[in-house]
Amino acid sequence: MHTTKKKFVTEGDVNASSLREKWNDNIKDRKTKELLQRDNASFLHQSLSTPCLDVIESSEGIYIINGEGKKYMDFHGNNVHQVGYGNEYVKEAVKKQIDTLPFCPRRYTNEKAIALAEKLGALSPGSLNRVLLMPGGTTAVSTALKLARLVTGKHKIVTCWDSFHGASMDAISVGGEAQFRSYMGPLMPGVERIPPPSSYRGIFTGMGKDDLFSAEYLEYVIEKEGDIGAFIAETIRNTDVQIPSKAYWKKIREICTRHGVLLILDEIPIAFGRTGKMFAYENYDIEPDIVCLGKGLGAGMIPIAAIIARDDFNIADDVALGHYTHEKGTLGSAAALAMLQYIEDKKLLAKVKDDEQFTQQQLTMLKDKYSLIGDVRGIGLLWGIELVKDRSTKEKAIKESEAVMYECLSRGLSFKVSAGNVLQLSPPIIITREQLKEALAIVEAAIASVS
Ligand SMILES: Cc1ncc(COP(=O)(O)O)c(C=O)c1O
Repeated sequence: MHTTKKKFVTEGDVNASSLREKWNDNIKDRKTKELLQRDNASFLHQSLSTPCLDVIESSEGIYIINGEGKKYMDFHGNNVHQVGYGNEYVKEAVKKQIDTLPFCPRRYTNEKAIALAEKLGALSPGSLNRVLLMPGGTTAVSTALKLARLVTGKHKIVTCWDSFHGASMDAISVGGEAQFRSYMGPLMPGVERIPPPSSYRGIFTGMGKDDLFSAEYLEYVIEKEGDIGAFIAETIRNTDVQIPSKAYWKKIREICTRHGVLLILDEIPIAFGRTGKMFAYENYDIEPDIVCLGKGLGAGMIPIAAIIARDDFNIADDVALGHYTHEKGTLGSAAALAMLQYIEDKKLLAKVKDDEQFTQQQLTMLKDKYSLIGDVRGIGLLWGIELVKDRSTKEKAIKESEAVMYECLSRGLSFKVSAGNVLQLSPPIIITREQLKEALAIVEAAIASVS
């Protein structure tokens, strides 16, 4: 029986700290307290979930709203909320779909799913146009791994330490965070891990100054180990916002091509405008062999995920690759098509690029003002503020980060702390400039109160 209680500070803030206890003690609303108790009594407890922060009763635009009417600007949203909560355009499309065909059984198809597959192919470069739909991101990763085995005839795969690719047994096998592998026993064999590109800019200083060292490490492992079928990685690390250089991705692409290793990019949290592009890899002028999508694909309304693979990978007629009940989901497809149309109609990609400039300026000013801030980094509307005790040693300011988060929560701004000391800000991309300013003012006030 499992008894140990480790407090990991990797993927997100912990739900068992003294500040969390204080936060929960401060909840006075009777109904909220009662609902939290019922949640506590009925759900299996797990990290980053039950016990929960608050009870959400409604959501709208960039806000989640609790039972007392308190509005939190949601700068986390599990990355599903690019076009905002309850987006009217998406809602209409989903409502219409519920009235006509809410579900499509396997072995049949439907026009909405076909249109979505065509649209995803059309948005992707060149030969990347074969699609499979599935119910969630983890299943997209799982399907991509299976397809890579079929295409290459090899089961070994290289991944990065610190990466996250989902919570199922195969996804944690290729993930790089101990939090998700701990206590689980033997996992999928044939996984080799390399240091992520970010590690060469920080942890291993002295070994090299840039992330090309990490790319070289991939080639070293491919040559040493042999039989490697694929390399899977997040194009940009979402949780603690690690943004590799263009040279890194160019080199990785070149190494994979030269060695016949498939490049699988996991863009589950960061596609659909988050980085100012429809797909994050477009920032790097590279083409993956398979891309995994999810989260925002369902526009914060319906769970749906996808892989897009090369046309010549269409070789699995006799294999169940992604044999999921909710495969050609009509509601998810309707939501996804509406979301993609909305991004195009409202020219949100260009808006995100403007927001990127503004956020960069504002956060750089904050960094100049507060020594607690060790680094700010970001792209589009994905930003990380790293808090440190000392800029020269980069010692993580873990307690301070948690304190800043709770201060922001009490002032109506919700986000996640990643890696123990990175305030991760990823608002809906529909956010107005005024709302963005308001949120950044809350961040500043919270940092000032903790500094
Ligand atoms: C990079 C990445 N890959 C995969 C997943 C898994 O997606 P899902 O939770 O929809 O299964 C996540 C979810 O957080 C993710 O961030």
